[in-house]
Amino acid sequence: MNEVKNILLAGRLKEEVAEWLEGKRMGFEFRLREYKEVTVGDIGWADVYIAFYPPKGVSLAGVKWVHALGAGVDFFIFRQDWPKETLLTRTKGDFGNRIGEYCVARALAVTQNLVELWEAQWRHEWYRKEAGLLRGSQVAIVGTGEVGRGIAAKFKALGCPVEGISISGKAVKPFDRVFGRDEIAEPLKKAEWIVLAVPLTEESYMMFNESLLENCRGAYLINIARGEVVDEDALVEALDSGRLWGAALDVFVEEPLPAESPLWEMPNVLISPHIAAITSAEEAGESFLACLAELQKGQRPKLAVDSEKGY
Ligand code: GLV
Repeated sequence: MNEVKNILLAGRLKEEVAEWLEGKRMGFEFRLREYKEVTVGDIGWADVYIAFYPPKGVSLAGVKWVHALGAGVDFFIFRQDWPKETLLTRTKGDFGNRIGEYCVARALAVTQNLVELWEAQWRHEWYRKEAGLLRGSQVAIVGTGEVGRGIAAKFKALGCPVEGISISGKAVKPFDRVFGRDEIAEPLKKAEWIVLAVPLTEESYMMFNESLLENCRGAYLINIARGEVVDEDALVEALDSGRLWGAALDVFVEEPLPAESPLWEMPNVLISPHIAAITSAEEAGESFLACLAELQKGQRPKLAVDSEKGY
């Protein structure tokens, strides 16, 4: 890649990332836009486009390099035609730790009856419900990448056996065992906690459908991946029928979750607004500069996305 000078930043975090990069005094020029404001002229001007999502209504074809601010790159590569000649890099942040804490916080909130106790407190009620024990309960994590491993480490630290599921089924630490995608029924059947930590790809799109959920025996589902990994109608049905005991959901097919979604009203569901791991400006800036340094040495950045695999 030749010189990278003109940086087009769009959407959330644009000011913060621009300020962080400006502080490095590397001679960058910036244009900051909302997604719907990006013009063909901006695309022509930019050496690199940095954002969580593609612009609205303008194609990215012609930009040499796109740096995604999120860990997941499906908005660029899965939900639209991706110009194959464009380099796509992603941000590496402390996502494994953040999402790991999000997951164990939900699991402990549930075993410790946190919400019920808090509600009873408001009624001034002496509500002596015994807590369950998280320690020793079986966890299955779908996705054994950086995020999946981070989640596994937190559950392991609390004394839970943890199995993983990945496309290859290759053993990876700290999972006790990793199953291939075609063997998923086995870990799902014995799991008390199922965590979804896969990138959204053709392979994972609507993966948790009615027939896969049939394998669940009253597990609690945590989804921090993407809403589209789960068929939401089948999820509601599994929660109603008890195949799933409950769910903590950070991501949805449509975000914000529409007011009429039955998920809002379900007492066994904990909803959060896509906040399990939020990229910081520093993580974004450092990842971008690491990629730039590799490009300037003529190397392919380690954070480059494999457009065939989709992550
Ligand atoms: C958030 O969902 C991300 O992909 O970073």
